Amino acid sequence: MRKDSKKDKLRADTLCVHGGNSEDDVTGAVNIPIYQAATFRQAEMGKFTFEYGRTGNPTRKALELLAADLENGVAGFAFSSGMSAISTVLLMFKAGDKILLSQDVYGGTFRIFDEIFSKFNLFYEIVDACNLDEVEKKFLKDKNIKAIIVESPANPLLRIVDIAGVSKIAKKYGSLCIVDNTFMSPYLQKPLDLGADISIHSATKYLGGHSDVLAGLVMVKDKSIADKILFLQNSIGAVLEPFDSWLLMRGIKTLALRMDRQVANTQYLAEFLRSLDSVEEVFYPGLKDNKGYELNKRQAKGAGAVVSFKISNRHNFNEFFKKLNIIAFAESLGGVESLICHPSTMTHASMPKAIRDLVGITDNLIRLSVGIENKEDLKDDIVQALEASVSK
Ligand SMILES: Cc1ncc(COP(=O)(O)O)c(C=O)c1O
Repeated sequence: MRKDSKKDKLRADTLCVHGGNSEDDVTGAVNIPIYQAATFRQAEMGKFTFEYGRTGNPTRKALELLAADLENGVAGFAFSSGMSAISTVLLMFKAGDKILLSQDVYGGTFRIFDEIFSKFNLFYEIVDACNLDEVEKKFLKDKNIKAIIVESPANPLLRIVDIAGVSKIAKKYGSLCIVDNTFMSPYLQKPLDLGADISIHSATKYLGGHSDVLAGLVMVKDKSIADKILFLQNSIGAVLEPFDSWLLMRGIKTLALRMDRQVANTQYLAEFLRSLDSVEEVFYPGLKDNKGYELNKRQAKGAGAVVSFKISNRHNFNEFFKKLNIIAFAESLGGVESLICHPSTMTHASMPKAIRDLVGITDNLIRLSVGIENKEDLKDDIVQALEASVSK
């Protein structure tokens, strides 16, 4: 796309292909090359575009500009994983500060607070972010709360958080609203437009889309926060390397296509699952009677591509996972291939059982990340595995 074109007029699917700095200035190559360089020759003292790979790299820069474009941020930052993105953002805070954590944040996010940042007196408190009154009460009670971290849909029960509502409360008390937008991707949801200050992604999931790269992205709305993150990114150094930056840009080009197909497949499977006797409950914000259905429709362009469900105890869970042929029993989500997992022993194992029970992550809960395969093949795979796993 020509350099002088107006990107702010482009729609999300076009931005996935042409956002950021999508062409190489030097050669005109329609893809940014992999600048596999750790340092850069400087023309003279203090005169350079890039200086040192940790501080900046042209391939990573192109990805970071694209990330900012995708969520209408002033800046984007790329990290070596979702967790390094989250950890770097948390280093903006200081000892004595407290962060509110939505009760069903990703287990790894809970773990860095509970076992690592707590050692440095960065405190946390759990809140049900779906309940705005409860959120406001927490802010009222404690002046040390400097931010709230939420996910919507929240993992693994796909509960919907009112991002605009939470952002408004955080702002009222001079705090930040940080959204982990991994489950939606920028194509379906743009937290900064809803009032959040920082949006974080495990780009390992939908943005990469092929389960072949570990990466994290941070997008911010405000220049002063961007300056802080830039400083921390360079100081800590958990940056995304050039090859992985390139892989991620390649993945993002097809984000809209993949998401459209994955969301449609998920809607189909969610409706099918709830028709089965073996399935006790289905959690998917695309189902009209789901509690978050209306809210999600207002704040996002789709209900995402993860569905969770509880299967009856008549089934042996391990047998069910073993009998699946197409759907892989594996951690992670968001790839073109369907993946299934057991949250209480996998993604949420690092969360204490008492909290798991409190939030409803029971042992018969299963989480399915739906890929781009043919939906009938996915359905058949689930049916045969259920049939083969009934306890004798
Ligand atoms: C919602 C969410 N946030 C953050 C992470 C951490 O990302 P990564 O595995 O890329 O470090 C994950 C990983 O599964 C996740 O699901």
